[in-house]
Amino acid sequence: MAIIAELNKNTENRAKLVEEIVKLERKIFPKHESYAAFFENELKRKNAGLLYLHADGELAGYVMYSWPSSLYASITKLAVKEQWRKQGHGEALLKAAIQKCKTRKVSRIMLHVDPLRTPAVSLYKKLGFQVDRLIEGYYSLERHAYVMYLELDSN
Ligand SMILES: CC(C)(COP(=O)(O)OP(=O)(O)OC[C@H]1O[C@@H](n2cnc3c(N)ncnc32)[C@H](O)[C@@H]1OP(=O)(O)O)[C@@H](O)C(=O)NCCC(=O)NCCS
Repeated sequence: MAIIAELNKNTENRAKLVEEIVKLERKIFPKHESYAAFFENELKRKNAGLLYLHADGELAGYVMYSWPSSLYASITKLAVKEQWRKQGHGEALLKAAIQKCKTRKVSRIMLHVDPLRTPAVSLYKKLGFQVDRLIEGYYSLERHAYVMYLELDSN
């Protein structure tokens, strides 16, 4: 069974859970895309949240989001552990984050994603995100980013 929950200061076993998330972050993302080194700071930011997914009692993935202004929200990170992929967990996490963003009454959700991350780009498109533009050298000299957005008004 899969459960999605919001990480907050009262979350049971919070420290252990954050440690597991940071470990996963380090494993999945290269340094230039990783929050691992400043994860606690990222979690403390105002106007930001993290949802995690437990499958069979084990951490299987997480999504991070923020609402930097009243105009838009951002999906800042999405990851599913390799052995739990292709089972709908990424989609479930993204849908849950979109719901969270909707409660902030913003009109669009933005995100950056490396175009080479085909599964992620497909998932974002599946849920209605469109490519706005490509920013060359966004992550590093050779690693670019699509800026993608989802209009909430029209949904
Ligand atoms: C992107 C990611 C979160 C998807 O998680 P997942 O649990 O495997 O995704 P789901 O099983 O929910 O798949 C949902 C949709 O995503 C897309 N997708 C998932 N895996 C895919 C793959 N290998 N190739 C192409 N599309 C894929 C499809 O559109 C799929 O819908 P479908 O099943 O109807 O075809 C996962 O691959 C991951 O963690 N990747 C590494 C980290 C990353 O790139 N994060 C995004 C940048 S921050």
